[in-house]
Amino acid sequence: MRKKIVAGNWKMNLTMQEGAALVAGIVDGLPVLSDNKHVVIASPFVHITQTAKQLEGKEYIYTGAQNCYQESAGAYTGEVSASMLKSAGVAYVILGHSERRQYFGETSEQLAARVHLVLNNGMKVIFCCGEPLEIRDAGTENAWVETQLREGLFHLPASQMEHVVIAYEPIWAIGTGRTASTEQAQQMHAHIRAVMADVYGADVAATVPILYGGSCKPSNAAELFACADVDGGLIGGAALKAEDFLGIVQAMVDA
Ligand code: PGA
Repeated sequence: MRKKIVAGNWKMNLTMQEGAALVAGIVDGLPVLSDNKHVVIASPFVHITQTAKQLEGKEYIYTGAQNCYQESAGAYTGEVSASMLKSAGVAYVILGHSERRQYFGETSEQLAARVHLVLNNGMKVIFCCGEPLEIRDAGTENAWVETQLREGLFHLPASQMEHVVIAYEPIWAIGTGRTASTEQAQQMHAHIRAVMADVYGADVAATVPILYGGSCKPSNAAELFACADVDGGLIGGAALKAEDFLGIVQAMVDA
């Protein structure tokens, strides 16, 4: 049975104090999780040791990071390595978020290298993909997403796919209040799983969680998570309030 996961991506938000209060609120209200139902909190780099400390000893809720660099160490001022993240208590690393690709020019080649470093350091990858509005309007979103996955992720051998989570985030739905319909989400998730089956076989494809991201909130999480190939969510805005985030976690637990 593949895992269901709700991951909060705080992006560049919250002071250390606000972050500590948010994690405390989430931990306080957390429903019962299990080995098949995980929660991840991807706080900004400076928060990570604090977040990890707050989550220490808690089961099935993990500290995440929002990025890492594609070199293992050296003269790369301002960057953070996979081994640093591992040593700080990180279990999941988000890679290839559309904001990173768009504002920081991250390429598939860089992402492919980062994927290796994250996995080689014993962490899991949450690999993001998703099309801009003009691609959706042109009707070529399937090919767009397939290319992102083949170039940035599917160089991995099948044996490493158990450490991979995919997040489908249509760019036109991120932070816009415009959620993909359940049909649009399910259609793309099924496409992603079909491409994975083509590369790795149906057994591997059936085990990799595919999260939906883009204006997911407590009011629409249940219907999204009810889709056969939607295994949870990557949550931005609604991850910044304990009540909203917990509402989405509850929808994942109930799904
Ligand atoms: P959103 O962001 O939930 O605020 O739309 C999702 C994301 O970018 O991960």
